[in-house]
Amino acid sequence: MCGIVGYVGRRTAGPLLVEGLRKLEYRGYDSYGVATLHRSVSVLKKSGRIPPQADLGKGLKGKIGIGHTRWATHGEPTDRNAHPHTDCTGRIAVVHNGIIENYAKLREELEGRGHRFLSDTDTEVIAHLVEEAFQPGKLQEAVEEALRRLEGSYAILVIAQDEPGIVAARKSSPLVLGIGDGETLAASDMTPLLEYTERVIFLEDGDVATLREGGITICCNGTAVQRPVEQVTWCLDDVKKGGFPHFMLKEIHEQPQVFYETVRSVDAREMAAQMRASPWVTLIGCGTSYHAGLVAKYLLEAHAGIPVRVEMGSEFKYFAPPVRGLVVAITQSGETADTLMALQKARAHNCQTAAVTNVVGSSVTRMADHVLYTRAGPEIGVAATKSFTAQLAVFLQLASRLSDGALDGAIATAHLAMGDALRTELDGAVSLCTGAKDIFFVGRGPFYPVALEGALKMKEISYIHAEGYPAGELKHGPFALLTPETPVVAIALPGPTYGAMISNIKEMKARQAPVIGIGDAGDTELADVVDVFLPLPDGPEAVHILTATVILQRLAYHTADALSRDIDRPRNLAKSVTVE
Ligand code: G6P
Repeated sequence: MCGIVGYVGRRTAGPLLVEGLRKLEYRGYDSYGVATLHRSVSVLKKSGRIPPQADLGKGLKGKIGIGHTRWATHGEPTDRNAHPHTDCTGRIAVVHNGIIENYAKLREELEGRGHRFLSDTDTEVIAHLVEEAFQPGKLQEAVEEALRRLEGSYAILVIAQDEPGIVAARKSSPLVLGIGDGETLAASDMTPLLEYTERVIFLEDGDVATLREGGITICCNGTAVQRPVEQVTWCLDDVKKGGFPHFMLKEIHEQPQVFYETVRSVDAREMAAQMRASPWVTLIGCGTSYHAGLVAKYLLEAHAGIPVRVEMGSEFKYFAPPVRGLVVAITQSGETADTLMALQKARAHNCQTAAVTNVVGSSVTRMADHVLYTRAGPEIGVAATKSFTAQLAVFLQLASRLSDGALDGAIATAHLAMGDALRTELDGAVSLCTGAKDIFFVGRGPFYPVALEGALKMKEISYIHAEGYPAGELKHGPFALLTPETPVVAIALPGPTYGAMISNIKEMKARQAPVIGIGDAGDTELADVVDVFLPLPDGPEAVHILTATVILQRLAYHTADALSRDIDRPRNLAKSVTVE
C-alpha cells in the first residue's frame, strides 16, 4: 500500500527512483510519480502501472528526488491525484503514505487564504502548509511547522527548490533511511535500498530527518536525536525472482528453507513462559496472519492446554469484552494498521504484549514488549505464503516448548516433507478449479484454518470465488450451493476427524460435487471416494498442516497461472495495508 522512495547523492535521481518504485510495486498501487530537483522541481506522474521501458525517468534532471506509488484512498486513481503533489508555486513537492484525517478542514482553511488545489487528495494540504511556512534554507523547520497542523498518519518526503536535500518525517507509517557512500536514501521498506547500502535507520514516530549527500540528521520534538544505524541482513538476491516466473512461486519454493531457519533461530523460551503464566492469551492478526493465529490456537490448546482466543485486528480494536493477559500480534510486515491499533488497545489495558513478525525495525517491534522474528526474508508476492509457514514454525516451537518437546520430532522433519509437497502432481486438480466459478475448501480441527487459507489464496490470485468452511458445517447451508460445477477441496487426514471427513465427502459426492481430496499418501479409502486425490507425504499431524498448506498454495498458484492472472500483484489488493 503506497510506496515511497527518495534519493540524494551523485547519481541521476529520476531513473533510480523509478527502479526503486518498481521494487515497491508489490505493496499494491494504482498510480505512480516522481519529482526531481535540478534548478527547479520537475514532476512526472501517471495513473496505472509503471510501464516497462528502462529509460523512464531519464528526462528528469537532478540528483535529488522523491517518488511514490499510490494506492487510492482520497480521490480516484487519476493522473492529477497521483503523487508527488506540489504547492501553488510549484517549488515544493511532497509524497505521502498514510491518511491526513483533518485534511478537509485544512483544505477549506487554505483555500480561504487563496491556495489553489490541483487534486482531490488529503496529501496536497501538506504541500500548501509547507509553502506557507517556508523560508529559504529552512525546509525542515517549515515541514515541522506543517506537521503540527496534521492529524492522522504519515510518512512523507519533501523537496523544495534551492534546498540541497530531502526532509523526511513519520508518524504511524513506515519509513526507512539508507546511508550509502556519498548518498542517502529513504523508502517505505528496505527493498529499494538494498542495491545501494546495508546501513539503515528506522525512523521513530515523531522524527523529522534531513537527508543530504553527506549524511542524515534527525530531530524529534525540536531536539536533535541519534537513531541506531542497523546492518541489513537481507541481500539483493532476496528481492529478485531467481529464475521463477513469479515471486509467489519462488516464495512457495523457499518454504522448506525458511521453515528450517525460523525454527532454528527462534528462541521461544521467554514467550512460552509468559503464555504459561498468563491466564488469558489473545492472538491478533489480519488476513493470512489471522489464519496463522487460528492454527496456533489449535496447536497451543491441543498440545499445551493453554486456552487461546484469536481475533482479527480490525474487530479487536472495537472489542467490548475484557482485554487481559498476554496479547500477541501476528503480522508479517509489522505495519498492518488494524493489527497495530489492536495492539495499542491491549497496551492501553495494561496487557503484556508480544509480536511475531518478519520485519526487523517495523512499527510492531517498537510497540510490543517482546518480539519473535520469523526468518522468511522479504516477501514480495502480495499473496502471503512463506510468511505463513514461518509464523507456523514459531508457534510449533512455542507449542513444543510448552509440551516438553512433544512436537520436536515433527519440527525436525517438516522441511523435508514440505520439499516433497512441492513436487506433488496437481494437473487434474488445477483443471477442475480453472473451470469453476465457486470452490469450497473444507477441513476439520487444524485443517479448517488451513482450508480458510487455501480459499484465501485461491480467491485473491485466481479471482474465483472460494470459501473455506469447517467440513461439518457445509450441511448447515452451503450444501444448497453444491452442483457438478462446484468443486470441493477436502482435507482428510488420519486422526480423530478422519471418519467424519469421509462421511462428509460422501455427502458431497451424493450432491454430485466433484471432490479434490488431500490425504495421506497411502490412503486408498480416500483415494477411492474422491475425483482427484492429492497425496501428502507420510508424517504426523503437525507436518500435515504444513504440507497441506503448500499443496493449497500451489493449487491456487497454478490455477491463477492457467487463467493468466497477474499473480504477484492481484487487482485491488495491497501487500501492506497501512490504513484502517
Ligand atoms: C494484506 C496482505 C495479506 C496479509 C495481510 C496482513 O491483506 O495482502 O497477504 O496477510 O495484509 O498483513 P501482515 O503484514 O499484518 O501479516
